[in-house]
Amino acid sequence: MQLKALVRLGASAAFLAGGYRLWQKAQPQITQQPDLGIEWSQRLLTRAAPLVRLPTAPDQPPDVLADGSGLRCPATGRIYPFHEGVLDLLPDEIVLTETQHVLNTPTTAWIYDRFRDMLMRLFGLPEFAVEVTAIQRALRVEPGDVLLDLACGHGNFTVEWAKRIGSAGLVIGLDISPAMLARAATHVNRWGLENVLLIRGDALRLPLADRGITKVNCSGGFHQLPDLNQALREIARVSAPGATLTASTFAAGPNDRRAALKDWFRRHFALHFVPLAELDEPLAALGYSEYRWSLSGEWFGYLAAQRSQA
Ligand SMILES: C[S@@+](CC[C@H](N)C(=O)[O-])C[C@H]1O[C@@H](n2cnc3c(N)ncnc32)[C@H](O)[C@@H]1O
Repeated sequence: MQLKALVRLGASAAFLAGGYRLWQKAQPQITQQPDLGIEWSQRLLTRAAPLVRLPTAPDQPPDVLADGSGLRCPATGRIYPFHEGVLDLLPDEIVLTETQHVLNTPTTAWIYDRFRDMLMRLFGLPEFAVEVTAIQRALRVEPGDVLLDLACGHGNFTVEWAKRIGSAGLVIGLDISPAMLARAATHVNRWGLENVLLIRGDALRLPLADRGITKVNCSGGFHQLPDLNQALREIARVSAPGATLTASTFAAGPNDRRAALKDWFRRHFALHFVPLAELDEPLAALGYSEYRWSLSGEWFGYLAAQRSQA
């Protein structure tokens, strides 16, 4: 009897150890670091510098370091490093919210990267290729665009837009999470995309010049923002006349029957279900027209709007 119990114990221990080893193997190891070379960094930073504004000099373009290793603040001399494919422009005093923290570990970034599509299906949402096609119908990304992929995460949409924009254009993938950006950098490198600049920054204080961006897409980002109106003001500020905005987000509909549960998520996880029907006024006040929105099931929604030509 005792022997049987011992054997069972041994088998369970072996099973657990095997499972643990498998789990360890599956942990995110970013082995392929982005390294497209110094010339590439220089070219990319030189192309992007007129569009970038550093937290320490919001009114003037930065200087590009000769070796492509970063940008220098023209006011303070501070260096902002461009390291492993990411330019870090996050203001020093930023405090992350609960959900921002969750997506800021290598493990959650890896899980999100691997299983995003499965999660989307769980919510009854379209698969990625279908989603890209639907957004592209409104966004009309074309060669030469300067596109901001806001809350770019692991760079899934960033890569898609970069392929369409070509060498004459530029995609700025901006996210607050270094873990997500590390994955985005790997994908950008894997695709050999030379027209993507990944920036660590905050949607509420975009480190970008006024009116430089021709298209803005924010997939899956609005619900994480503690102050969406402030982010919309920033999006409007950096958008060129006539620029298109598209976004997808966890959303609330009019007379939402899940309102109580959604409010619970907001209070406990800082996850905001955006009332899409109510965005028409703030967007109009910021000079947007042709506002369209739709819900995809009970949880998620899409929107598009057009910045005025003035
Ligand atoms: C759910 S992911 C979306 C990633 C990708 N766009 C997609 O659709 O799969 C949301 C992203 O928003 C980012 N995020 C949250 N708050 C942000 C902020 N204030 N500024 C920039 N990015 C932010 C998170 O770090 C995360 O990567």
